[in-house]
Amino acid sequence: MAILSDNEDIGIDNKESLHKKNPIIKPENIEYDKTFENSIRPKDFDSYIGQSALKETLKITLQAARLREKPLDHMLFYGPPGLGKTTIAGVIASQMGVEILITSAPALERPRDIIGILMSLKGGEILFIDEIHRLNKVAEEILYPAMEDFTLDMTTGKSQTAKTLRIPLPKFTLIGATTKAGELSSPLRDRFGMIHRLEFYTIDELAQVVKRTAKILEIDVTEEGAKAIAKRSRGTPRIANRLIKRVSDFAIVKYDGKIDEVVANESLDILKIDEFGLDNTDRALLNLIIEKYDGGPVGVETIAAALSEDVRTIEDVCEPYLLQAGLLQRTPRGRKVSPEGYRHLGRKMPSEQTRLF
Ligand code: ADE
Repeated sequence: MAILSDNEDIGIDNKESLHKKNPIIKPENIEYDKTFENSIRPKDFDSYIGQSALKETLKITLQAARLREKPLDHMLFYGPPGLGKTTIAGVIASQMGVEILITSAPALERPRDIIGILMSLKGGEILFIDEIHRLNKVAEEILYPAMEDFTLDMTTGKSQTAKTLRIPLPKFTLIGATTKAGELSSPLRDRFGMIHRLEFYTIDELAQVVKRTAKILEIDVTEEGAKAIAKRSRGTPRIANRLIKRVSDFAIVKYDGKIDEVVANESLDILKIDEFGLDNTDRALLNLIIEKYDGGPVGVETIAAALSEDVRTIEDVCEPYLLQAGLLQRTPRGRKVSPEGYRHLGRKMPSEQTRLF
């Protein structure tokens, strides 16, 4: 599986051979499926935990495409980061027995980046574009005829002598992923045959993810240990997988190697992941709004500047879960800490504080 994204590096040999196959693909953009996250990714629907509504729809869609011997419709998956958008795309590819080429919109800066990738595809293959809301206008316009008619429309020459060249492309499937479906232009959104939102995972589903990953990593974890990690994983399997690794380091060094409820909770306390799964940044965000802005509302730009974080990190990484957990509220005038947020931090709401004057 060739990946053109910001995952871990893979060594120059593989990059060079893919670059030789298609010189337009820059070696520095080519990476392979070698990260920890990729190594534990499920490859079929049975081992992909959660998102049951999506899985059921996809099973039917895939079966229909097989029976019709047609490529799959273009699909758009949206939702907060870490919920398995890339993973489900990989499952779709392996279930269809086709290759998947993974890239992300910020890597498709120049027209030739997207053209090179489109021309390297073979019939039935899947092109996965992460953060598709960040695609530039030119790349987007190249994609329209590619998605709709499987052609590349290229213009050669200038003004009166300009000619349009239609280059046929193989029938591929585009899978787009985004944390911000609302930022996609409607012409692009309209070209997807299936649009699906990924949901946060339940504690039980996350406990299953933890147990599955522990088994792959050959780590001993009890049911209660898995649940304790799941509870602090912010509804997100990527976080659950990260935490099981961190906790297993503690289990090996400080305990007997086995993760039970006590080991999980003590390790996560030391890592400063609280019982809601909030880390230092999340708590700093809530405390900032309470201490400096009387609980809000305050604009996200102000929050980001005060925390020395960028707005995108606040909006895409911190906020979705704080909002979903009901600790933060989004109002037209900015963000507010909810009564639940105050309670979680053990603080009193302004209305509960004794007034001196
Ligand atoms: N790892 C990450 N996401 C997963 C999922 N949905 N099921 C199983 N393992 C996962």
